[in-house]
This record gives sequence, structure tokens and C-alpha cells, in this order.
Amino acid sequence: MTIEVKPILPRFGAEVSGVDISGPLDEETKRQIVDIQNRWGVTVWRDTGLDDAGHVAFSRIFGHVELAPRHSAKPSRMSEPELFDASNLDADGNIVDNESIRLAAGGNRLWHSDSSFMDVRSSQALLLCHEAPPHGGPTWFADTRSAYEDLPQEMKDRLEGLEATHSYFWSRRRAGYPYTEEEIDAKPIARHPVVHVHVGSGRKALFVGAHTRDIVGMEREEGRKLIDELIDWCTQPQYVFPVYYKPGDMAIWDNLCSLHRGGEYDDTLYRRDMRRTTVRDPQAEETALDHYSRMFAAAADTPFNPAEKTRDRILAKA
Ligand code: OGA
Ligand code: MN
Repeated sequence: MTIEVKPILPRFGAEVSGVDISGPLDEETKRQIVDIQNRWGVTVWRDTGLDDAGHVAFSRIFGHVELAPRHSAKPSRMSEPELFDASNLDADGNIVDNESIRLAAGGNRLWHSDSSFMDVRSSQALLLCHEAPPHGGPTWFADTRSAYEDLPQEMKDRLEGLEATHSYFWSRRRAGYPYTEEEIDAKPIARHPVVHVHVGSGRKALFVGAHTRDIVGMEREEGRKLIDELIDWCTQPQYVFPVYYKPGDMAIWDNLCSLHRGGEYDDTLYRRDMRRTTVRDPQAEETALDHYSRMFAAAADTPFNPAEKTRDRILAKA
């Protein structure tokens, strides 16, 4: 069996075929897949034949698979505790109400690295399509290693040693949730280097996205200008490509060397059923098993449900 790798951009992204990932894999094949992922940053797998359990099982070749955050008052459609529901559907499989879709989709359409707001970061995310809109609903990806490498030397020097703060609540605010700066100040925040070495390839990468709030030690305005400038730099046409899905297709991205964003489609009209697993950074310390739910529970004044909360607050203001 030969694994075929077809690059999408010269330095970033590849379509992988020639291996059935829906069943058990031998150690050599697993090693090859991890190597391909480390080299290309984003891989695309067509017509995988994976079901929920197979999706989680395959994800384990990359490391520890996180438990998805759960909200006790909101029943989940997912059959496995590791599956994060990235769809626009409610527990009964119906398209969820417009206001909450609009806000959640707005956040997802900003360039981001999943869970950068956690102290313990996520490396791989594996997004499997179960149902796709007829014309689109892609995910876009951006290459933060090549973007770093191509920076002018003065900028590389300027970034050396800088750290940034990351907040989930900040990116929600960017997307239109009515959080105030003061409310965000009271929520958990994580701190990460702006440039880091991507361990799987030894290449350096930028690490900024929609959750990035401030540059440590810099005036807020100046820091935000720099953050936006770096995100714009990473998302120039030569660093980005979209993945369009059919049911069974899967994209795997490495959050530590790429950014991504949900692409446009009419989410009030079309069902889009996407399910995601998330692998913890293999370099990270062990952490609490259910650390996402704990983070959100600790951050909320009421049980966590941003869509509900926001809708109530918008209605209260209206
Ligand atoms: C995600 C995500 C984008 C998409 O699941 O983390 O950003 O296209 N998804 O669904
Ligand atoms: Mn994401």
C-alpha cells in the first residue's frame, strides 16, 4: 500500500489517499500519517467511510483526544464524549434558531487557532463532514509557518520574545457578542509566545488569531494593531486555500502551524453537519480530563451557554 500525497500549495496543505483509515492501522502507517501531517500542516481525506467511533479512534494516532466541552442543560447530538458538534443543528437535528447561528457562525468565520485561549493548547483538529450544503460551506486554512518565514527580518526581530494573551470571550466580542472589556478582564486568559517552534517540523510559526487579545507589555492599541497586521499577513492569498466537503470527507489541521475560518454559506437554509475531535498538544503537561468544561463553567456567572445568554441579553436590551 502506498500513501499518496498531493500538495495543495507548494509549502502547505495536501490531499492524502491510498490508505483506508476506517479500520485498524499498523504502526508504520500511523507513523507515516503523523509525518505527513507534520510536514503539510493541513491534510484532506476524501470519502473516509468513518463513523463517530472510527473518527475518535483514528484521531488517537495523533495523541490524547480531548473531551469536548459540554453544557449540562443542553443535550448533545454527539454519540461520543470526544466529539465537538461543529454543525448548525440542534439536538433534534433541526437547523438552530437564526440569532444563535449568526453569532456562533460569526465567531467561526474569523481566522483562529482552536483553543488558543486554553493554557494547554490543542495540536490537531479532525473535522469530519456528515452533511454538506449544496454549494459550499468550506473551511479556509492559512499557513502560519511560511507566513513567518517570509516576514521581513525587522519584523522577525521585533517579534522575538513577545508573548500575547488569548481569550475566548474576546473573540466572541469580536464576533458581536455583547461582552464588555471589563467582563472579559474577569474571565480566564491564556498567555502564549507570538512566535514558536512547531515541534513536528522544527519550523517557526506565528501564533496569533481571533482569540488573541493583547501583546504582553504593549499598549492595548499598539498590540491590537500588531495582532491584526500579523493575521492579515498570514491570510494573504499565497498562504490560504479552501476545503469543500462532501459527506465522508475530513480535514485535519494542526492548530500550532495554521489558522482556519469557516467559509460562507446560508446557514439558516442549509444543514451542515460537521463533527470535530481535538488532540491535545503532545508537548503539553497533563491536564484535567474535562478542562474545557471546567474553564467555561469557571468563567460563567450562570451555567455556560453563550448562545442562550447572548440572546437573552440582546432581547433584554431590545
Ligand atoms: C472548528 C471550525 C470551521 C468549519 O470546528 O473548529 O472552526 O468550517 N470549523 O466548520
Ligand atoms: Mn475552529
